[in-house]
Amino acid sequence: MTPPTVEPPDVESGARVSDIRPSPARARAHRLWGGRFATESAPALEALNRSVGTDFRLWPFDVRSSMAWAVALWDAGVLTLEESQRLEMGLAAVHQQLVDGAGPDASDEDVHTMIDRMLHAEVGELSGRLHTGRSRNDQVATAARLWCADAVTALDAAVRALQDTLVDQATALGDALMPAYTHLQRAQPVAAAHWMLGHFWPLERDRARLAAAGRSAMAMLPLGSGAIAGSAYPISRVLLKESLGFAAVSPNSVDAVGDRDFVAEVLFATALMATHLSRLAEDLIVFGSSEFGFVQFGEAFTTGSSMMPQKRNPDALELVRASGGRALGDLVALLTTLKGLPSGYSKDMQEDKRALFDAVDTLMLVLPAAAGALGELTFRRDRMQGAVSSAMMATDVADYLVARGVAFRDAHRAVGVLIRMADAQGVELHELPFAEYATVHPDFAIDVFESLSPRRSVERRNIEGGTGPDALRVQLVAARAALAPPRETPRGNGVVIASR
Ligand code: ARG
Repeated sequence: MTPPTVEPPDVESGARVSDIRPSPARARAHRLWGGRFATESAPALEALNRSVGTDFRLWPFDVRSSMAWAVALWDAGVLTLEESQRLEMGLAAVHQQLVDGAGPDASDEDVHTMIDRMLHAEVGELSGRLHTGRSRNDQVATAARLWCADAVTALDAAVRALQDTLVDQATALGDALMPAYTHLQRAQPVAAAHWMLGHFWPLERDRARLAAAGRSAMAMLPLGSGAIAGSAYPISRVLLKESLGFAAVSPNSVDAVGDRDFVAEVLFATALMATHLSRLAEDLIVFGSSEFGFVQFGEAFTTGSSMMPQKRNPDALELVRASGGRALGDLVALLTTLKGLPSGYSKDMQEDKRALFDAVDTLMLVLPAAAGALGELTFRRDRMQGAVSSAMMATDVADYLVARGVAFRDAHRAVGVLIRMADAQGVELHELPFAEYATVHPDFAIDVFESLSPRRSVERRNIEGGTGPDALRVQLVAARAALAPPRETPRGNGVVIASR
């Protein structure tokens, strides 16, 4: 049983100053290098270089690909069947220890050396043969790809849960109306459910982007590329790719160990998703202010003020909003690290995981909080509807003239004059006497006041994608349909894994 791997590990992330001490003698034994060094490396280097605090969580994937590697070494005639099986059993035991809570010790440089140390404890000197023909360069690229595929599956489920809440709230809003805003100025009336679903579709595109990023991660297997030139042993990479679920083997070892495009793709998908969440949060925060009063926050996702007893602050939504900046920072950190690197692997690439894990962890925290905060909102339909002023039907009044054969441009000008008159008299458009309408344009008749009804304005917009009730019904069905079947992620070997 593999624990949920997108959970933050129970270890320090990153080195601390207290890590700067000479590593114990046994550390040297499980280092995967060191023969050519006569003296100990500097404690400051060890502290900087040590990545196990971050990459520990790759362990399920590193164990899995090591098992596949043990089989491939037997297939290549490097190990006997008995040796290969002992390694596999040893790795299974290591897996179990890690499931049971074993963690890195002070001597472990990274997750790969940690597993090497633990395997040595299980199978003795035989463990030293597992590293034949491979390098941590192809190892870490493989494990990180497997981790990404797993993470996007977990993210997909979390996004779907938020989308479910959006659809539920849209449904509950029924036929309530509200102003829609452009430039945050009252523009036209819409069904409140239409506004709510306006936040559904960006997330739907995010899910497609995440699925594509997951496919990119599984598109090619780096294992077998060695450090940079390819393995010198007759390893069956096809066997490896099949057993690990990749679509193909990498066609170029230099590229394979230096490629982090798949990390960038996950980080772009998460950055854009966090941007969408940030905008949703902003709408809700603004609409929850006393000035708008469209929504009332619940209690489970808000906090009080230590000074002002009356406050109920939308902290969850504010932190959702802030995650947009953080996720973008992670994407920028990765791309900035990659740009200008020479081809092949450089140690700079070790830093990719900080950005990757931070972004995924952030989204995994933020998505349930966004869903929770949204789910406990109460909508104040009276306030929403009350904010629809008759000037918002100005376009409908212009359309009224157009229906009587007036050119839209002339109609637009006539209504503009009416608005100016209403402004000057300090009244709403519907409060202006009909006599004024008649002076502005001869085609106005008394029934023009019907076009000032917000409900009518909305009902006229049944075009696909519009806010009219028929169009909205279709949209709601489409939104539910998008969530209905689990999105199927084809993995490399053609096996279709349903990601719920
Ligand atoms: N911890 C390293 C990383 O995450 C593993 C690869 C190390 N390779 C090397 N040549 N030192 O990138």
